[in-house]
Amino acid sequence: MCGIIGILGTDDVAERLVEGLRRLEYRGYDSAGVATVHDGRIERQRAEGKLNNLARKLGQEHLPGHSGIAHTRWATHGAPTEDNAHPHIIGDVVLVHNGIIENFKPLRDELLAEGRTFNSQTDTEVVGHLVAREVERGASPEAAVKAVLPRLHGAFALAIMFKSDPDLIIGARLGAPLVVGYGEGENYLGSDAIALAPLTQRIAYLDEGDWAMVRRAGVQIFDKDNNPVERPITLSGITGALIDKGNHRHFMQKEIYEQPVVVAQTLSSYLRTLEARVALPDMEFDLGSVERVAIVACGTASYVGAIGKYWIEQLARVPVEVDVASEFRYREPVLGPNTLGLVISQSGETADTLAALRHMKACGVTTAGIINVPTSSMAREVDLLLPTHAGPEIGVASTKAFTCQLAVMAALSANLARAKGRLEAAEEARLVRHLTEVPAAMNAALSHDAEIEGMAHTIAGARDVLYLGRGPDYPLALEGALKLKEISYIHAEGYAAGEMKHGPIALIDESVPVIVIAPSGPLFEKTVSNMQEVQARGGKVVLISDAEGLAQAGEGALATIEMPKVHPLIAPLVYAVPVQLLAYHVAVAKGTDVDQPRNLAKSVTVE
Ligand code: M6R
Repeated sequence: MCGIIGILGTDDVAERLVEGLRRLEYRGYDSAGVATVHDGRIERQRAEGKLNNLARKLGQEHLPGHSGIAHTRWATHGAPTEDNAHPHIIGDVVLVHNGIIENFKPLRDELLAEGRTFNSQTDTEVVGHLVAREVERGASPEAAVKAVLPRLHGAFALAIMFKSDPDLIIGARLGAPLVVGYGEGENYLGSDAIALAPLTQRIAYLDEGDWAMVRRAGVQIFDKDNNPVERPITLSGITGALIDKGNHRHFMQKEIYEQPVVVAQTLSSYLRTLEARVALPDMEFDLGSVERVAIVACGTASYVGAIGKYWIEQLARVPVEVDVASEFRYREPVLGPNTLGLVISQSGETADTLAALRHMKACGVTTAGIINVPTSSMAREVDLLLPTHAGPEIGVASTKAFTCQLAVMAALSANLARAKGRLEAAEEARLVRHLTEVPAAMNAALSHDAEIEGMAHTIAGARDVLYLGRGPDYPLALEGALKLKEISYIHAEGYAAGEMKHGPIALIDESVPVIVIAPSGPLFEKTVSNMQEVQARGGKVVLISDAEGLAQAGEGALATIEMPKVHPLIAPLVYAVPVQLLAYHVAVAKGTDVDQPRNLAKSVTVE
């Protein structure tokens, strides 16, 4: 999964292409490259690593040309080297690609057998050869692409240029997003509307299987059967300004600190505080008829689903299944009538989740989506969109999207409970009151930042870290471990506290910090017993609890973090803050690249 952009401009485009790539770096940052068609030549500059390396190169050597394509890469086929960086030039053809060509091996063998040579290990170069071969046989660019597209299996968004025609970029998509941007005397292609925001707000989203001939004078779009089609032009409304870090050192830190505000914003669109009611957007189906909920998501979003399972089952008494999206379709899930399929995604583009959503729809299931990017594929495809209002999340580690998703999940759980006749008005009023307390409680949690920073150095020296929780705080333990792993590269695992004695306790010695998430409440004593089993074996515990919990069980801990006293329902939202801060400060102490950790990308658009 990568980011692609193309500009047919009225002046030199290289700088604007790089600006577009900056907005696409969330899709990958293993390498980047730009190519232009200029004076009957294809010009190209590529660089390994972050986009700044490419920008530096372009600063030293100007790349002329009014027509160009560019790419930021998350490596799938071939190491993140300059040779494997896009754009790839094959004869008179130059192209960039996002996705995976699953049948690239037989295609490559076919081309090798004809004596064609390859300069990279990428699947993309195979597509370039196929198109170039058609052109060499006398086909027009249009005919060449038309002949090649049906041969490609997998997922792709492509932007292809031809040395012979500097007024043409051909775009094509299947399973990976691609949009057309309409400008004044200029036209554009991009992975998303965000990349094109400084250039135009007028965006058409290509449908699955569409391909487009983009010229300065106009754009022709064809569907998968090559019929000319119109795709509606919408106004994206996305600001052209690049989001900055404000006074913060990293986007992740900024996003952790934004949580009280964005969670409040999100809650305000689901809570009717005057009426003491929780409300969802209008929907065309009856929530009361839902007999089962199937939740599908990836990574952090999947832990929101796991917390939602506790909430929905406790409040609404409706059975819930939670799957990681990459497993969902392949286990052939039984999706009966009256199942609500719920996807959760920050980006709305995660390929595994999108494929699961399409599978559910194909099975006739009514779908809802808790999604942050309102223009994303998932947001456009779900039957009921439940938006989060986290704003753009730039740090690869998801923080504010997580808590905003939890806020919406709480609202959905309460709505479902009411629709099922299981939530009395007084109880609903109590839930609304607890939810409105979340932003202030998050602020209180943030006030412990300096203490958490102080203890981060101890954790930074560890090789392994365990996180324990019970009930809805068990998925939060999983989230804590994921957060630490992805940005500090320390091995971490989350466990249900009661499960330790069934095996993982063998890992415990004085070198393994154990982070225990234990708000006081019905599960507190049991969690503390499990914590004591760890301490009895020399384990070094960091206990996160409220004043009451710390007074009861804080003695003997390596460190404690005091949270405000909150209702168990909202505890995961509030306790997420110290968990995120701990991972953040450990990563800073280790000197890792917090916002763009190695091997990762913000949006994972390949399966
Ligand atoms: O955009 P999505 O919410 O669908 O992304 C899902 C996961 O890839 C994402 O949450 C990932 O696990 C984060 N890097 C975790 O911090």
